[in-house]
Amino acid sequence: VALLAGDGPLRGERVLITAGPTREAIDPVRFIGNRSSGRMGFAVAAAAARAGAKVVLVAGPCSLATPGGVERVDVESAREMHEAVMQRAGDCDIFIATAAVADYRVDRVPEQKIKKSDQPVALTLVPNPDILQAVAGLPRAPFTVGFAAETERLAEYAEAKRARKGLDMIAANLVGGGRDTGFDSADNALEVFWAGGHRSLPRAPKIQLAEALVALIAERRHGNDQ
Ligand code: CTP
Ligand code: CA
Repeated sequence: VALLAGDGPLRGERVLITAGPTREAIDPVRFIGNRSSGRMGFAVAAAAARAGAKVVLVAGPCSLATPGGVERVDVESAREMHEAVMQRAGDCDIFIATAAVADYRVDRVPEQKIKKSDQPVALTLVPNPDILQAVAGLPRAPFTVGFAAETERLAEYAEAKRARKGLDMIAANLVGGGRDTGFDSADNALEVFWAGGHRSLPRAPKIQLAEALVALIAERRHGNDQ
């Protein structure tokens, strides 16, 4: 049941969320992508809106309907996502980075299609800006929540990532290895860490899990205010 705006645990909060994959061009017709469906981020956006927040969702290419009451900004590449976020990060109270942002992009993208030959082709990849770290490092940073997709040593890697990026909270999940949670699946499970605390959000459909995460964010954020 949807809460009336003005009534939920995030009433009056401005929430900025990234979601989905990014696409890094190789040439005008090809790109490097990843298996993110965007479903977790869209579910978080929907849950935050239901909790009374004013939500802006910066989305990479994904074929999902925009949740009700959510303002959506479509982008393709990591650099476009970075720009869209930095334009808006100063005006938000909570930033939630669920996007699977490409860590690298192709150094030089030719204007014309790369033609086939019988020789090997090498791509040079250069690092993309870390959007989450950039927001967390702002002088008046919002409450920042990161995600961590790991294939091993979940707690250790996630907590290290949280500390290194200076985040208020990180939600970690195991991906890969044929698991039916995480990327491109309907269910997920999260281990959430903050400075001096931890909570397990057990396996559930992403819609339900997003509700639980939003409730935890509201709880921690208000805890920090008092
Ligand atoms: N992230 C981001 N911008 C990037 C890379 C990551 O905003 N260029 C965000 C993701 O949205 C996520 C968090 O950082 O919230 C962690 O992403 P992840 O890929 O797990 O971590 P990385 O720091 O990129 O490290 P690695 O891929 O080596 O594990
Ligand atoms: Ca990464």
